[in-house]
Amino acid sequence: MSELPEHVARNRALWDDWAKKYAASGERNWARQAPAWGVFGVPESDVGLLPDDLAGKDAIELGCGTAYVSAWLARRGARVVGIDNSEAQLATARRLQREHALDFPLLHGNAEAVPYPDASFDFAISEYGACLWADPARWVPEAARLLRPGGRLVFLVNSFLLTLCVPAEDGVAATDRLLRPAFGMYRVEWPGDPGVEFHLSHGDWITLLRRSGFEVEDLVEIRPPAAAHTRYPYVTLEWARQWPCEEVWKARKR
Ligand SMILES: C[S@@+](CC[C@H](N)C(=O)[O-])C[C@H]1O[C@@H](n2cnc3c(N)ncnc32)[C@H](O)[C@@H]1O
Repeated sequence: MSELPEHVARNRALWDDWAKKYAASGERNWARQAPAWGVFGVPESDVGLLPDDLAGKDAIELGCGTAYVSAWLARRGARVVGIDNSEAQLATARRLQREHALDFPLLHGNAEAVPYPDASFDFAISEYGACLWADPARWVPEAARLLRPGGRLVFLVNSFLLTLCVPAEDGVAATDRLLRPAFGMYRVEWPGDPGVEFHLSHGDWITLLRRSGFEVEDLVEIRPPAAAHTRYPYVTLEWARQWPCEEVWKARKR
């Protein structure tokens, strides 16, 4: 525990504390047969995050939380492993595995240093997991190490534009004003929030991905359907219909 990087130790304490609040959404998402993504639950058929050919592939979810994304991958025939930094989140994941009679390995650990050999996986995914809470300078090269040549990395995070426009106060929605500089953004600590997030500009993501051995294949800016809802107070549907509040990066290991 003492060897954990400071941001990983802080985020572990945070997610052990928040896990109870995420159990219900984990239950709902495990019960979905068709994946739906992000804070507005946009259907997979609208965004196409998942490759068609997952059956028989080795997959890993980096920061799996309650592991519903892993469950969706397993149901599509992937041999999936989930890793998460919070034992409390994994306790919910293990309960849901039992309730849905769906078993796959769940590891307690830091996605910046995964205890698997090089080139173990064909597919790596993160939805607001390591891609938001782990240090990109560590987890992106680690994802590259874990993937086989030609393997794919997909991750979904807050859009950079939302991060520039969202007020620092908890519970207040983004407006149409830029509230902070884009240049230099990397590690972000919101006032009153003990967690550590990482937000990168598009240019910085592209540089890091390419330097780590990936080719960027797509950047999908998510637009929720007109009737979508979110339980998160930091973005309204009106905002998200005008500007992307979430983005999906798709990259392929060279
Ligand atoms: C918002 S949840 C993501 C899971 C799920 N997709 C969701 O949206 O609820 C964030 C998860 O990332 C995990 N996490 C944070 N830092 C991590 C790290 N360095 N390595 C692995 N998991 C991490 C947290 O423990 C938490 O369970």
